[in-house]
Amino acid sequence: MIAVTGPTGNVGRALVERLVATGRPVRALTRDPRRARLPTGAEAVRFSLDEPAALFDGTTELFLYVQAGGDHTPRLLAAARAAGVRHVVLLSSGIIDSGADETHPIHVMHATAEQQVRDSGLAWTFLRPNAFAANAFQWAPQIRTGDTVRGVFADGQSAPVHEDDIAAVAERALLDDGHENTAHRLTGPEAISNAGQVEAIGRALGRDLRFAELSPDAAGPELFPHVPPDMLQALLRSFAESVGTPPEITDTVGEITGRPARPFTLWAEDHVDDFKG
Ligand SMILES: NC(=O)c1ccc[n+]([C@@H]2O[C@H](COP(=O)([O-])OP(=O)(O)OC[C@H]3O[C@@H](n4cnc5c(N)ncnc54)[C@H](OP(=O)(O)O)[C@@H]3O)[C@@H](O)[C@H]2O)c1
Repeated sequence: MIAVTGPTGNVGRALVERLVATGRPVRALTRDPRRARLPTGAEAVRFSLDEPAALFDGTTELFLYVQAGGDHTPRLLAAARAAGVRHVVLLSSGIIDSGADETHPIHVMHATAEQQVRDSGLAWTFLRPNAFAANAFQWAPQIRTGDTVRGVFADGQSAPVHEDDIAAVAERALLDDGHENTAHRLTGPEAISNAGQVEAIGRALGRDLRFAELSPDAAGPELFPHVPPDMLQALLRSFAESVGTPPEITDTVGEITGRPARPFTLWAEDHVDDFKG
């Protein structure tokens, strides 16, 4: 049995769908099983830190989303180990080992979680993705209501990674031998600018979308629903550095899954309905 935290999130949901499709027993640890709309075949269990031992009864593998345990991650991992979990696949971040400032709050959050996993005594695999293609959902409210998208750093470059490519790597790391005590750096296959992402969503919709660049000083947290508000300023500094800097591109998705990572244009086609009004 594989336990999946964050199972209604971008990566967690894709992973649960994959595991159910291959007939693997999956326990989805969600904060609200009634609203989770998980696929038939997944066992939905309410995620609570009150009695963590009960979460892992009968499980041997764990997919861990960093915020799931928060400050209680060591206790969560100890309960998992005591219940029989042997291996944890952590959704970490490419900010680790990227040369970024180690006091950056996103670095601290993921480095802390990685250390807690190492200290747990469980075998581990760290997934270190760079920017998610799903960050483009930040523009969905604007795209549903008009053709102009206000945002920062039109020329900021990234190689956004499809959440289902991260899930596909997680699936292999959970099911196959050979991923223990290894970190995988994950990116999409090609660089694209922020303005280019908006154009690609427009092409998928059959609409001509325009990116209107805002000064970062004028960008409020409402434009970044995927960013914890206390991390926004640090992230804006990282976004500024992405202008004129070619992003890291790895072939790890292809090497591990046997299928090349999907470009942003395909992500936009996969999610076109999410941008319709
Ligand atoms: N966005 C990026 O560019 C990027 C880049 C590198 C790494 N990452 C990593 O990936 C993570 C985001 O993954 P994602 O997009 O799949 O996540 P997501 O869509 O934001 O959601 C994750 C799920 O986790 C659960 N959750 C949220 N807050 C929680 C909390 N405080 N305690 C317990 N469970 C909670 C929720 O599921 P339930 O309601 O069902 O419990 C939620 O649906 C980031 O936090 C970061 O660690 C992101």
